[in-house]
Amino acid sequence: MTDASRPGLALETATDRVSIAVMSSEDPASAHVVEEDVGHGHTRRLSSLIASALSRAGARARDLGWIATDVGPGSFTGVRVGLATAKALALVSGARLLGASSLTALAHAAGGTKSLTLPLVGAGRRDLYMGFYRTDSQGGVHLLAAPRVGPPETLLEAVSEAHALLGDHSVRFVGPGAARERERLEAAWPGSTALEFRHEGLSALDVAAAASREDGPGAGLPAPGHETDPAYVRPAQAEEKVRHRVMGLTPPGIRSLVPADLPEVEELEHRLFGDPWPRSFFLEALADPTALLLVAERGGGVAGYLVATLVPPGAELQNLATAFVHQRGGIARALMEELIAICRTRGVRVLGLEVRVSNAAAQGLYRTLGFRLVGLRRGYYKSPIEDALLMALRLN
Ligand SMILES: CC(C)(COP(=O)(O)OP(=O)(O)OC[C@H]1O[C@@H](n2cnc3c(N)ncnc32)[C@H](O)[C@@H]1OP(=O)(O)O)[C@@H](O)C(=O)NCCC(=O)NCCS
Repeated sequence: MTDASRPGLALETATDRVSIAVMSSEDPASAHVVEEDVGHGHTRRLSSLIASALSRAGARARDLGWIATDVGPGSFTGVRVGLATAKALALVSGARLLGASSLTALAHAAGGTKSLTLPLVGAGRRDLYMGFYRTDSQGGVHLLAAPRVGPPETLLEAVSEAHALLGDHSVRFVGPGAARERERLEAAWPGSTALEFRHEGLSALDVAAAASREDGPGAGLPAPGHETDPAYVRPAQAEEKVRHRVMGLTPPGIRSLVPADLPEVEELEHRLFGDPWPRSFFLEALADPTALLLVAERGGGVAGYLVATLVPPGAELQNLATAFVHQRGGIARALMEELIAICRTRGVRVLGLEVRVSNAAAQGLYRTLGFRLVGLRRGYYKSPIEDALLMALRLN
C-alpha cells in the first residue's frame, strides 16, 4: 500500500453486515473496526458508520492514504454504495483506491495448502455466488476459474468438475454461504465445512489484506489492487431487461473472413486482447486448409470474428472476439453455433479450447454452449501471465 504514514480505510459492504476498518499500514493489527447489521440499509447507514470508525481512530477523511473496498459479488446495492463512497472519498482526499472481490478476500483469508477453496456468498433467494481458487503446497492462492452464481445443486456439479482438474486437493467451502448450506455441502463433500472459516461473514480487514496484495495476475489472481470496477457476476434484473430490449436484435450475418477484413479485425484484436495476434497469424490461418475463419457482421461492419482449426475427429478454437460495442448482443454465440454446426457436418467429435482463468465472459459463453472443464495449464498465457482452463464440447 502507498504512504505508510497515512491511515487507510477498508469498506466491506457486500452483505447485510457492513464492516468498516480504519488502520495504519504499519500496524494493521491495531485497526479500529465498526460493524453493523444494516439489512438493506447500506445507503442509509454507510456514511455514519465510516464517520464513526474514523472518529474512533482519531483520523480525518482528508488524511487517508488509501481506501480499500469490496467490489463484489454480493448485495448489488451494498457493492454500488460502497464503491461509489470509496471513489468519492478517494477523489477528495487523494487517497489511493484499491479493490478486492469478496470471494478473493475470503480465499486469501482462509489460507490452507493443496486445497480447492470455494468461497460462498449469498446471492438472494436460494442462490449463492461461488469463487474457485486453488491453494498450492506453499499456501499460495491462485484463481482457478471465474466465479459463478446459481442454486447450490448446480454449483456442486461445478465443484466436482473443478476438483477433477486438481486431483488430490481437499475441498473447503468458506464464507457465510457455507454456513447457510452446511448440511448439503457436508453430504456432498464430507469435512469440507469443518474449518468454519469466516462463516460469520465478511470482514473489512480481509478486504484490506486482499486489496493490498501485490501478486496480481502473475500469481494467477485478477490483480486485486486494480479491481475497482464492480464484479456483480450476475447482471441486475433491471439491466437485463434493458439489455434484452436494446439488444433484441436480428441475428448477425455470418460469413467467411477474407483478407479485406484484416485491417478491421486487427484493430479489434489490439483493443480486445493484452496479447493480440499479429497479422501474420491471421495470414497463416487464411493459408491453412484446416483453418476456419468466420466474421459476424452487424450494422455493416465486423462485429466479431472466430478462428478454429478442424482436423476431424478433433477441432480447436483458436481465437474468438466481439467488438466492445456489440458485446452481450449474441455475436459470439452466433459465431460459436456456426462453428459447432460446421464441426458436426465434418465429423468432429470433440471441440476444444483454452480460456484465461479470469475470463468470466468467455467461460460463461462456453458453459452455456455445453463445454466442460477438462484441464488446467499453468502459466499458459502471457501479458499478463495467467493459467489457462482447457474446456471441451463433445459432439455426438
Ligand atoms: C467473450 C466474448 C467473445 C463474448 O462475446 P459476446 O458477443 O459479448 O457474447 P454473447 O453476447 O454471444 O453472449 C453469449 C453468452 O455468453 C455469456 N456471457 C457473455 N458475456 C458475458 C459476461 N460479460 N459475463 C458473463 N457471461 C457472459 C452469457 O451466458 C451470454 O448469454 P446471455 O447474454 O443470454 O446471458 C467477448 O466478451 C469478448 O470478445 N471478450 C474479449 C475477447 C475474449 O475474451 N475472447 C475469448 C477468448 S477465449
